[in-house]
Amino acid sequence: MTVAIRIDGKAMAANLSATIAAETAALLREHDLKPGLAAVIVGADPASQIYVRNKKRAAIACGFHSVQHTLASDSSEKDVLSLIEELNADEAIHGILVQLPLPAHLDAQRITQSISPAKDVDAFHHINIGKLTAGDTDGAFVPCTPAGCMFMIEEQLGSDLSGLSAVVVGRSNIVGKPVASLLLAANATVTMTHSRTRDLADVVRRADIVIAAAGRANMVKGNWIKPGAIVIDVGINRVEATVDGDTEPSLTGDVDFDEVSKVAAAISPVPGGVGPMTIAMLMANTLRSAKLSAGLEV
Ligand code: GUN
Repeated sequence: MTVAIRIDGKAMAANLSATIAAETAALLREHDLKPGLAAVIVGADPASQIYVRNKKRAAIACGFHSVQHTLASDSSEKDVLSLIEELNADEAIHGILVQLPLPAHLDAQRITQSISPAKDVDAFHHINIGKLTAGDTDGAFVPCTPAGCMFMIEEQLGSDLSGLSAVVVGRSNIVGKPVASLLLAANATVTMTHSRTRDLADVVRRADIVIAAAGRANMVKGNWIKPGAIVIDVGINRVEATVDGDTEPSLTGDVDFDEVSKVAAAISPVPGGVGPMTIAMLMANTLRSAKLSAGLEV
């Protein structure tokens, strides 16, 4: 029995962050420019607070100027929009992210679309989505989780996926749709699947590359996988796990890791896979934005 390579997102992200930190130091030395990242969080959602804290830590480790704006959960849309307007105009800020989900009374579309496309390091703005969909991957910010998935795939298979079949499970705007655009730009033959897909396991079994981004714990089983496939698990599901007879909160992906690792050639784990890569890609986008703001090559 073969055992799949465990794609170590944590180590890859640490390498990438070290490169970004070195480039940031050079940018400061040679151009007196420090990349600035602003994180906006509305309310006190505990998971969002952890995500924003991790992004802030990563920004500081890269040598960035890092600011966090925490607004009360009952803030009005006008409050959020006027903060974004300020950040859009702030020359020390090159990347703005509004942590999702937002409280229900706020219109997330209106808010994410108010971020200047030039500072849209999450790549949620329709200008950046449009460029990506049109295959203009050099001219756009690429959303962080899909970019992290591609980085991992590239490490296993190289940058040209000609002749390979990729199946994306999940059609979200944050992951499923943009990762499909990136796979297509890399010449893969791409199939999008979702909760209404018939015979999902049969479709996934045809894939050389599987992106699991459905948000359902352990959904993708070993017998769904073609032997030798590369499997990227984007799921972050909070579940209860039994450890030494005690029930503890735990994180698990969309892929049944134990089963799939007996069939696949390589698999990214949860935690320690796509999550750290997402944050590293956010840092890469912020550095890129700072360079572009000064007319430098990226
Ligand atoms: N919530 C879940 N994923 C993301 C992300 O990538 N960016 C932001 N801003 N919020 C999120």
